[in-house]
Amino acid sequence: MKTAKDYIIFPLDVPTIGEARNYVKLLSESVGMFKVGLELFIRYGPEIIKLIKDSGTAKIFLDLKLHDIPETVYRAMKSIAGLDVSFTTVHCGENIDMLKKAVAGGAGSVAVLGVTVLTSVSNEDIFAAGFRKEFSSDMSRLVLKRAATAKAAGCAGIVCSGLEVKIIKEHFGKNFTAVTPGIRPLRDNIKRDDIKKNDQKRVTTPAEAIRNGADYLVIGRPIRDAKDPGAAAVRIAKEIKSELK
Ligand code: C5P
Repeated sequence: MKTAKDYIIFPLDVPTIGEARNYVKLLSESVGMFKVGLELFIRYGPEIIKLIKDSGTAKIFLDLKLHDIPETVYRAMKSIAGLDVSFTTVHCGENIDMLKKAVAGGAGSVAVLGVTVLTSVSNEDIFAAGFRKEFSSDMSRLVLKRAATAKAAGCAGIVCSGLEVKIIKEHFGKNFTAVTPGIRPLRDNIKRDDIKKNDQKRVTTPAEAIRNGADYLVIGRPIRDAKDPGAAAVRIAKEIKSELK
């Protein structure tokens, strides 16, 4: 059964395998999944996947955010399918064929998530990139459009901000997985606007994301930068638990 800690995905956003090992040891009992991104995978490749597997039962999310021509994505996904990881990511991009080939390359061995709009992107960024006003004035429309493409291509779900989860679930059903980064716990001494500090723009608290229907929360800095990362993960799991029906 999925427990509160299983909702937490901790990104191993560190430069060395030694630091990654420390976090895996520290958190393997208090989070459900570790996310390996480009920083570690470019340097260590499958070795980092093995390290996590050997350390316990936490699952693995290989977040490579692929974006290339369909055939190249297909071939990359065939390599990923051999790594025995739970999730991987492909940008929804502009072309459904790339997503279809990603799913085909994964061959059912890995769940493919479409990245809709990065949570670091603002309405102004979308406007500046030349998108029509209907998308820059209401980014959830762009998220929805890209999610529809991911769904049609056979993706298992998407990555989106906690603000968009509700509308995603309404449109695509509860089995379409929603993974939400941009999570900032609201602590007693932090005001609502202060949680938007660093590069994440479309943020929610863990409780809000769960209430909106998120299946997994990517939570990095609020755990990593805490004085006691293990205790921070446990506190967040409690907040999640209080929202689970
Ligand atoms: O919680 P924090 O902001 O530190 O989380 C950062 C992590 O969230 C990074 O690993 C980044 O890749 C991930 N992320 C993501 N999808 C986004 C935005 C951020 O997976 N749309």
